[in-house]
Amino acid sequence: RVTVLADRFGRIATDLRVSLTDRCNLRCTYCMPAEGLAWMPQPQQLTDDEVKRLVRIAVEQLGVTEVRFTGGEPLIRRGLVSIIADAARLDPRPRLSVTTNGIGLDRIAVPLRDAGLDRVNVSLDTLDPARFHTLTLRDRHSDVLAGLRAAADAGLTPVKINTVLMRGVNDDEAPALLQFALDHGYQLRFIEQMPLDAQHQWDRHEMVTAEEILAALEPFGLQPDNVSRGTAPAETWLIPDRVDAAGEPARVGVIASVTRPFCGDCDRTRLTADGQVRNCLFATEESDLRKILRAGAPDEEIADAWRAAMWGKRAGHGIDDPTFLQPVRPMSAIGG
Ligand code: GTP
Ligand code: 5AD
Ligand code: SF4
Repeated sequence: RVTVLADRFGRIATDLRVSLTDRCNLRCTYCMPAEGLAWMPQPQQLTDDEVKRLVRIAVEQLGVTEVRFTGGEPLIRRGLVSIIADAARLDPRPRLSVTTNGIGLDRIAVPLRDAGLDRVNVSLDTLDPARFHTLTLRDRHSDVLAGLRAAADAGLTPVKINTVLMRGVNDDEAPALLQFALDHGYQLRFIEQMPLDAQHQWDRHEMVTAEEILAALEPFGLQPDNVSRGTAPAETWLIPDRVDAAGEPARVGVIASVTRPFCGDCDRTRLTADGQVRNCLFATEESDLRKILRAGAPDEEIADAWRAAMWGKRAGHGIDDPTFLQPVRPMSAIGG
């Protein structure tokens, strides 16, 4: 009964990313303005039951095997634990993860684990509390560190850290961040900044590249990884003689979306908090599932609309094309 989400380039989307809210309790300067954005009106946002239904359709009818919840900041969505618990009861049970800024994770890590969450990725761009404030406009550095510890203690592992380096802001911290991750058994990944900020200030020449990041990490003696990367955005390296929290060889990742795109292996489909399917992070068109869902469509019709949306997926993000246009919806409302 499963008919997968295929596109005309032969890719199959088995990895669903669900944005649960466009709101956030931080104001990372590279993401959104200090005053925040015009948040999505409540009635436009999918209800918990609507999210659960769409996730069920994705798993039961479309062959999705991995579901990641994102935001904005997904931990501020009240129904998160219930949504995860519902997804964990699906058959076949999908792998479940959350990408969060870590605030509040210290309190909710155990309930999330008990609901069926498998693992978390936590964003952390600096080890310096003052710099954290400059970067996020909020004084919450210790909350994030507490969240990381709680996630590891709850067994939401491997706990991964996502770091965006910005020139002249935190690009001197790559080795210290990696040392911190190694000391705590977290897996660090550096992300090249993408043109998805609400302010449209991204500048390719300002972006810290994978090449620069790897050069900064030279003292660690990184070795090529021995396991295949598959469809993962992160390219990983082994750190000799170091292990992670589970005793596995320690790794560091680089997500080089801009200088080493991986669109050819993409296995992702995205759902926004207002029920739009995005077939790519950089899609300029969306498909409105909320509309047909609220009009009373049966599961099969929703599944068909989702398949049609993915069939139209482009070959790649096209950041380097002269005609490239940044999507209207910013990162904080797509979920990365
Ligand atoms: P893991 O399965 O834990 O490795 O997750 P992930 O790295 O795919 O997800 P996460 O939410 O932690 O994303 C980390 C970074 O990768 C974010 O900046 C995302 O925007 C980016 N990312 C995730 N998926 C895609 C994608 O399909 N394309 C591009 N270009 N970037 C992506
Ligand atoms: N490019 C790349 N990564 C970004 N993030 C936020 N905005 C961007 C961007 N424009 C990161 C966050 C978080 C992860 C989910 O995405 O810092 O770590
Ligand atoms: Fe919030 Fe993430 Fe944007 Fe920072 S990057 S403001 S944590 S949504």
